[in-house]
Amino acid sequence: MIAARLPHMFLYSILLLALGCKEYTPSRKEGIKSENRTVSVRLSALPKQVKSPSNNPINTAKVDLGRLLFFDPILSGNKDVACATCHHPSSGYTETLDISIGVNGQGFGSKRAFKHPNNIPFTKRNAQSILNTAFNGIDIYGKYNPAEAPMFWDLRVKSLESQALEPIKALEEMRGTNFSEEEILPEVLRRLKANTEYVTLFESAFFESNPVTIDNMAKAIAAYERTLIANNSRFDQYMRGHKNALSESEIQGFELFKEVGCPKCHNGPMFSDFKLHVISAPPNEKLNVPDSGFQNTFAFRTPSLRNLRFTFPFMHNGKLGSIRKILEFYEDVSDGKPRNIHVVKDSLDPLVRSLDLTVKEMGPIINFLLCLNDQDFDKEVPGAVPSGLQVAGNIAQ
Ligand code: HEC
Ligand code: HEC
Repeated sequence: MIAARLPHMFLYSILLLALGCKEYTPSRKEGIKSENRTVSVRLSALPKQVKSPSNNPINTAKVDLGRLLFFDPILSGNKDVACATCHHPSSGYTETLDISIGVNGQGFGSKRAFKHPNNIPFTKRNAQSILNTAFNGIDIYGKYNPAEAPMFWDLRVKSLESQALEPIKALEEMRGTNFSEEEILPEVLRRLKANTEYVTLFESAFFESNPVTIDNMAKAIAAYERTLIANNSRFDQYMRGHKNALSESEIQGFELFKEVGCPKCHNGPMFSDFKLHVISAPPNEKLNVPDSGFQNTFAFRTPSLRNLRFTFPFMHNGKLGSIRKILEFYEDVSDGKPRNIHVVKDSLDPLVRSLDLTVKEMGPIINFLLCLNDQDFDKEVPGAVPSGLQVAGNIAQ
C-alpha cells in the first residue's frame, strides 16, 4: 500500500496536468529538493452539505437519539465513560490529554486522571476530533463515500457506523474488565431495551418493529456525528470568494504552506489525503510498548489540519505540544533525521523528506493554519440522559 504510492502520485500529477488543473511550480531554491517542489494546488473549502450512507438517512429524531447515546455512560461496562468523555463539545469534540483516560478515570481536561487503585491502561492514541469526521475520506475533487469513510489513525475501520462500536468494545476506552469483548454489546443492548425512554426514542427514530438493536444504536450515533460540522472557517470563506476573509500576511502564509510542500499530504478540503505515511513522530514514553501504527510499519494517517486549536497536543500520540514544535519536527525529518528511534532514515516517506522548510517560514505558516479554526459548531450538551447517569461520564473535577 505504502510502496504503491509513488507511481500513484506520478499518475495523479499527469492526470491533473491533462485536466488542466493549476500546477504550482516553485522557483525559490536550486538543488535536488527544488525538483520536488512542484505541488498541485489541491485545497478547497468544505462542502456546505453533508452526505449520509443510503442505509442511514438522517432525521431529527435519529440525531436527537444519537446525541443522548453519545453523552450517556450507559454504553460503558462500568457506566463511567461516555463518548463525550473524550470527545466533549467544550474542547472541540476531542480532549486536551496526549493519550486518553477512559475507564476508571475522573475529571476533565488536563485534570483528568485515573482513580486509585487502577489496573486500566491509557488509551494508546490521541483522541481525534469528531468535528467534520462526516467528511472523512473526501478527495481533492470533493468526492467521498460515507459508507467507506476511513477512520482512526491507522485507517482500521470504515464508516462512522462501524466506528461507533469500537470504543465500546475496547477495554481501556469504555468496556472495562467486568465484561469480555463478546459480552459487552449484548449487555449494552439489554440495558437499552430495559429503558422505556430509550425504547420510545428508538421507535420514533427508526420506522421498524423492534427498533432497539446495536445496529440502530450505531446508526443513531453516526447520524448525530454527521451534524458536528465546522465548515465556515475564514479559510473556507476565502476560498468561497470572500477575499477579505484572510489578511495579506495570512495569504502569504498560505502560499508558503503550499510552497514548502505540506499539501503533498495535507490536501483536499480536509487538508488530508487520508493515506498512511511514515514520518517518525516521537514515541510517547507513557506506553510500555511503542505504537507501531499500521501493520507495524510506523505509518499513520495524515490528520486534518482543521481546528488545530482543539486537536493539540498533536500527532497520533499527542507528543508534540505546539504547531511550532511540529514545524521544527518537519525541519529535522526533511533533513533525514528521524525523530522516532524505531524508524530508520530509509523508511521515511519521500514526501516528507522532500519538504523544504526554513525557520523564517514558520511564523507565517502558523498564522495561516490558525485560519482553519472554526468555533461556530453545535456545542449542545443534553441536560440529562435517559439512564439518569452523569452526563458525559465521570468528568466532574
Ligand atoms: C477514552 C477516550 C475515548 C472514548 C470514551 C471514545 N473515544 Fe473516540 N477516539 C478516541 C481515540 C484515542 C481515538 C483515536 C484511536 C485510534 O485512532 O486508534 C478516537 C477516534 C474516534 C473516531 C475517529 C475519528 C477519525 O477521524 O478517524 C471517532 C468517529 C470516534 N472516536 C467516535 C467515538 C464514539 C462514537 C465514541 C462512543 C461510542 C467514542 N469515540 C468514545 C478516544 C475515545
Ligand atoms: C508525507 C506526508 C506529510 C507531509 C509532507 C506533511 N505532513 Fe503533516 N502529518 C502527516 C502525518 C502522517 C501526520 C500524523 C503523524 C503521526 O501522528 O504520527 C501529520 C501530522 C501533522 C500535524 C498534527 C495534526 C494533529 O492534529 O495532530 C500538523 C499540524 C501537520 N502535520 C502539519 C504539517 C505541515 C505544516 C506540513 C508542511 C511543513 C506537513 N504537515 C507536511 C503527513 C504529512
